[in-house]
Amino acid sequence: MAGSGDVGATWALIAAAGSGDRLGIDRPKAFAGLGGRPLLAESLDRLDRCELIDAIVVAAPRGWEEPTILLAEELAASKVVACVAGGDTRAESVAAALAEVPEEALVVLVHDAARPLVDDAVIERLLGRLDGTVEGVVPGIEVRDTVKRVERGVVTETVAREGLVAVQTPQAFLADRLRTAFSGDLDDATDCASLVERHGGRVAVVEGDPRLVKVTTVGDLEHVAGLLKVDEVDDR
Ligand code: CTP
Ligand code: MG
Repeated sequence: MAGSGDVGATWALIAAAGSGDRLGIDRPKAFAGLGGRPLLAESLDRLDRCELIDAIVVAAPRGWEEPTILLAEELAASKVVACVAGGDTRAESVAAALAEVPEEALVVLVHDAARPLVDDAVIERLLGRLDGTVEGVVPGIEVRDTVKRVERGVVTETVAREGLVAVQTPQAFLADRLRTAFSGDLDDATDCASLVERHGGRVAVVEGDPRLVKVTTVGDLEHVAGLLKVDEVDDR
């Protein structure tokens, strides 16, 4: 556990409290097996080792707080300051984790445990762009496919692709702006940036990472496990 005294400027929140219905296994998604350890271990370990991050709060699945604390201990993740029970929605889980962040914190990064392959490069891009001209920064991937709006199986509109990006996590925010955004209505918030935008905050986009895919289905889990294996071979 992080020491008292200097609380550190940059905090990371890991949203890991989802049930993982679409994965459909006997445990919450954060505890699905990936490369021989729980999925959550990957992002927790990577964020703990990132020099730009001072402290971490994990929003764990309800009833899984204890295994989450044990996992942090096993990983010797010394920056983990708190582990809280998540809520019914992602936004409520993030709100519970945010409540643990002290006033003195300047920047808060919010990350999905479901995107295990987070690395220092994307965090550097995010924090580098948080330069006082914007309140938040998100990683985005240009949309290459044609995008259509569909109702009852029939296309109602082909959306102009220009300027469209698919947004990932981690997302970085000025701590006070994120707090303000979370003090309001959390309904329909699929990501944290949308709440900051709703409160008039400017959100910049930096280059995302195709490896930050979100594990939703068993196929995604196999895909990410494959990417992780390639890393291990490269490291030898
Ligand atoms: N999340 C959370 N609390 C919730 C719901 C989601 O912390 N009440 C987190 C998940 O753990 C995940 C991220 O938000 O890391 C993105 O959510 P998603 O991929 O939809 O995960 P689940 O909600 O667990 O999956 P599903 O929608 O298939 O049930
Ligand atoms: Mg979900």
